[in-house]
Amino acid sequence: MRRLLVIGAKGMLGRDLVDTLRFSFRPNQDWEILEWDIDEIDIQEENITVTKIENMKPQIVINLAAYTDVDGCELNEEKAFAVNAEGMRHVALGALKCNAKVVYISTDYVFDGEKKEPYKEEDSPHPLSVYGRSKLRGEQYVQELVEDSLIIRSQWLYGRHGKNFVNTILREAREKKVVSIVDDQTGSPTYTVDLATAIADLIHRRARGIFHVANSDSCTWFAFGQTILKLSGLLEVRVLPISTKELGRPAARPLYSVLSTQKLRREINMTLRPWSQALREYIKSLFSVY
Ligand SMILES: NC(=O)c1ccc[n+]([C@@H]2O[C@H](COP(=O)([O-])OP(=O)(O)OC[C@H]3O[C@@H](n4cnc5c(N)ncnc54)[C@H](OP(=O)(O)O)[C@@H]3O)[C@@H](O)[C@H]2O)c1
Repeated sequence: MRRLLVIGAKGMLGRDLVDTLRFSFRPNQDWEILEWDIDEIDIQEENITVTKIENMKPQIVINLAAYTDVDGCELNEEKAFAVNAEGMRHVALGALKCNAKVVYISTDYVFDGEKKEPYKEEDSPHPLSVYGRSKLRGEQYVQELVEDSLIIRSQWLYGRHGKNFVNTILREAREKKVVSIVDDQTGSPTYTVDLATAIADLIHRRARGIFHVANSDSCTWFAFGQTILKLSGLLEVRVLPISTKELGRPAARPLYSVLSTQKLRREINMTLRPWSQALREYIKSLFSVY
């Protein structure tokens, strides 16, 4: 039996990714999917992480485990680097022991947002926040230590299984008549189901190196929020545009961090659908349950 190990399997992306992998790496094709999260392994602990991975002998290790609270990272730099950077190093060392491919999910926050046009894989990173710096260090460990590696940078994720912007806006809209949303940050909202499908596809095609993966088209958080409310039929809720400065969050964010997905299209012939289409499907799925 060949083994594919997902670390961070109970997070927002992890849950959708495991569902997707169960379809595309079927047991009858000799694949076993292992789901680990903080209860099974704390990637901050080097010896345990290396030994557990080595004993399991996976062919592929996907690391999604991270300290993802961007403002929390700013206030706790030590933990951010311990999980996002050193944790990735420990996973890579374990994977090295069994010659496994390593897949690491990284972020648009490795860029500073000064570019004003979509960021390509070869653009120089320059993170503004502790979270961005710790994820970039994670990328560098993967590149330094593992020959067969795949780094996928994505952004503005939302999905069924975690805290995210869409759910926050819907909750605020139920509680208030006016919702304030930042209007000076631009990116591409990305549905975890679409990202999960792309990750599985990239692995099947034995892709290596860095790939940017996000839903097509871009918008500000404000426009994203307006679309969420419109698609949810909450037309009576007023949306107020505010600036990043007014919001006053601890961590700086890139004002423009759209990821160019040309490489994905060119080399893998893959384009993710526009974010508004994906959002429509997500919102439909939410309301079909409530
Ligand atoms: N969310 C986004 O917009 C976004 C954008 C770009 C890239 N990414 C990257 O995509 C990946 C998945 O993101 P996500 O939003 O699905 O994150 P998430 O929901 O926070 O999931 C991360 C999972 O990792 C676990 N974890 C945290 N520390 C750990 C440790 N020391 N050892 C083992 N497991 C640990 C978490 O457990 P607890 O919940 O108990 O802490 C959680 O189950 C991350 O690597 C993130 O950096 C996310």
